[in-house]
Amino acid sequence: MKPEKILKRYGRSGDNLLAILHDIQDASPEHYLSDADLRSAADYLRLPYSFVHGVASFYTMYSLKPRGRNLIRVCQSPPCHLLGSSTISRELIKVLGVGFGETTADRLFTLEMTSCLGVCGVAPAMMVNDRVYGNLTAERIAGIIDDLRRAQ
Ligand code: FES
Repeated sequence: MKPEKILKRYGRSGDNLLAILHDIQDASPEHYLSDADLRSAADYLRLPYSFVHGVASFYTMYSLKPRGRNLIRVCQSPPCHLLGSSTISRELIKVLGVGFGETTADRLFTLEMTSCLGVCGVAPAMMVNDRVYGNLTAERIAGIIDDLRRAQ
């Protein structure tokens, strides 16, 4: 959905800024907020661009640079950590050939750390876009990435 359509779903109140930025980023195939997106939100809400940029920069849930088509977020909170998230992270780094905060050259994957995903019962867990993968083992990682590549 285009940012203009998303904006029209909201009233012109600054209280809606976080939700608007969230929806625009969700609709972006590259999972980020462009400069034009920030300007559109600022204009629509009649807020200074510098304020909107400051808000988007402050929260780690927003990205101001393009990310891969598949956003992989690996939980690093204690329950997942205790059950082996560091092994999962090492395997992802090996299979993808990129570190945390980086995007693969084919722009298919961005690897990020996150705090609890709310699915501790299936720790260790990661999320790829909106899908949760739980009870992870290092042996499953290459297969999951292959399936995601084939689905593109
Ligand atoms: S600690 Fe990892 S999902 Fe809750």
